[in-house]
Amino acid sequence: MDMKVVPVREGNYNLKDYEKLRENFSWDDMKKYFSWDTTGKVNMAYEALDRHAEDSEKKNKIALIYSDPYREEKVTFKDLSKASNRFANILKDYGVEKGDRVFLFMPRSPEFYTAFFGILKVAAVAGPLFEAFMEQAVRDRLQDSEAKILITTPELLKRVPQENLPNLEKIVIVGDHIDDSDKYIDYYKEMEEASDEFDIEWVDLEDGMLLHYTSGSTGKPKGVYHVHHAMIQHYATGEWVLDLKEDDTYWCTADPGWVTGTSYGIFAPWLHGVTNVVRGGRFTPEDWYNTLEKYEVSVWYTAPTALRLLVSHGEEKVSNYNLSSLRHIMSVGEPLNPEVVTWGLKAFNLRIHDTWWMTETGAQLIVNLPSLEIRPGSMGKPIPGIEATIIDNEGNELPPNQMGNLAIKEGWPAMMRKIWNNPSKYESYFMNGWYVSGDSAYKDEDGYFWFQGRLDDVINTSGERVGPFEVESKLIEHKAVAEAGVIGKPHPERGEIIKAFITLNEGYEETPELLEDIRTFVKTGLSAHAAPREIEVKDSIPKTRSGKIMRRLLKSWELGLPTGDTSTLEK
Ligand code: PRX
Repeated sequence: MDMKVVPVREGNYNLKDYEKLRENFSWDDMKKYFSWDTTGKVNMAYEALDRHAEDSEKKNKIALIYSDPYREEKVTFKDLSKASNRFANILKDYGVEKGDRVFLFMPRSPEFYTAFFGILKVAAVAGPLFEAFMEQAVRDRLQDSEAKILITTPELLKRVPQENLPNLEKIVIVGDHIDDSDKYIDYYKEMEEASDEFDIEWVDLEDGMLLHYTSGSTGKPKGVYHVHHAMIQHYATGEWVLDLKEDDTYWCTADPGWVTGTSYGIFAPWLHGVTNVVRGGRFTPEDWYNTLEKYEVSVWYTAPTALRLLVSHGEEKVSNYNLSSLRHIMSVGEPLNPEVVTWGLKAFNLRIHDTWWMTETGAQLIVNLPSLEIRPGSMGKPIPGIEATIIDNEGNELPPNQMGNLAIKEGWPAMMRKIWNNPSKYESYFMNGWYVSGDSAYKDEDGYFWFQGRLDDVINTSGERVGPFEVESKLIEHKAVAEAGVIGKPHPERGEIIKAFITLNEGYEETPELLEDIRTFVKTGLSAHAAPREIEVKDSIPKTRSGKIMRRLLKSWELGLPTGDTSTLEK
């Protein structure tokens, strides 16, 4: 047997022949799974929630198992549907209309999911923000989206800017809050008073549903806009890739502040009506194994960083738990190391299936289907309905085994429909009819895709996307910092860590205390995951003559690589 390949396993999966699935596939054929095929009316909240709540056999099924170190709660489809009706009524009473942006800045909790569906039910656009964001990050997103309502907790309210947000009319507080100015809405009080009946707002397939901010290599984070139509692909990949079956208990470890936590933490599992486990708080390996064991998780979607942490804690630990329910594991967000795949076979006796996609793509595109052999290190093959290729800088397709830009033929259901307030940015993603990912990759003779790296300066630290520009901008706000250049530096567990090169203003001297202070400044101003783990003081930062920081050169210095063409370097 070729040790480089992990063969298909019978038994645990609903194996579907890859070639057959792709043959004559049309997204239109998937419509029959949804009520709008006959009614012409659509709303994700109906398909993922109310439909099950109306079904006498499903309504009392557990939709959500929420747990954190202090709380455990199980919520049925019916109860989640009723609660989100209440929240929809609250939003409607405060004048929220179709297309308005309503943001959530709160940790995972039953209230989060209730509010999220309430937002969709009034046909507003939901904007979930990662709970670790600090003031600047929150401000940038609320300003750009012109959000009308924000839902947050008393703890996180401290990081919500109180000025320069002219569009923000109300703040819903989930928890005790003493300020009774009419800017604030008391979540629990109003939920008690609101009706649990609501006439859902029916929309068109192409109407907006979700805004996820993500980082590029330049400028502030951009708002990636998704529409209800995406549900076709969430449903389809839930079947083909997540392999969901009626009696599965599913756990996606991602936070809904990131796209995995919505597409695959909310939409795909609930479109399939399965029980969805949500774990809040920070985890240790023991927590992870406990969660898998206690709730008898059968399908688990996680990330390489988490898996690498588990690997570092040893295989023996796994044998202390009864994980006999677990039948399917998937990974996303960063390259899945072949060693982790090998470890998974030993530790769980299961294959770990890599999946590739992006915030912009809205759903999985290149995957290791259960029915395909796994080539460790490869992201797999395009799902049915998706054509993927490798192109050069002019948009020409390249033959197998040649590295280039990973590109997808335009026009799949879950693709972003715009970049909020930035049409030219949106246009810049496309070339010759291809969506250009910015990832470098190659395709082998058999159609498997192999990830090689990012072609731009975007950093991927522990699976989270960080834009160097944002970090640089924050760094130079520190009184001691004159200039800053930020890169991703390879790291065995985190994929990359953030490294900053800075120059100091006159009168400042490099000391460990100063560097720590600068680090804390970014951490408390922007967010913990964006704070540089390493800071190096330089006499100057290399720039082009037009003043652009040459991050590539910084990276070459860091890695001891040849510096290449530096002819544009400022002299
Ligand atoms: O570089 C690729 C990497 O993550 C980027 C997308 O990040 P984000 O929009 O935050 O979405 C993450 C989860 C959908 C990609 O451009 N990436 C994602 N999946 C993989 C990956 N890199 C290697 N292998 C993957 N499976």
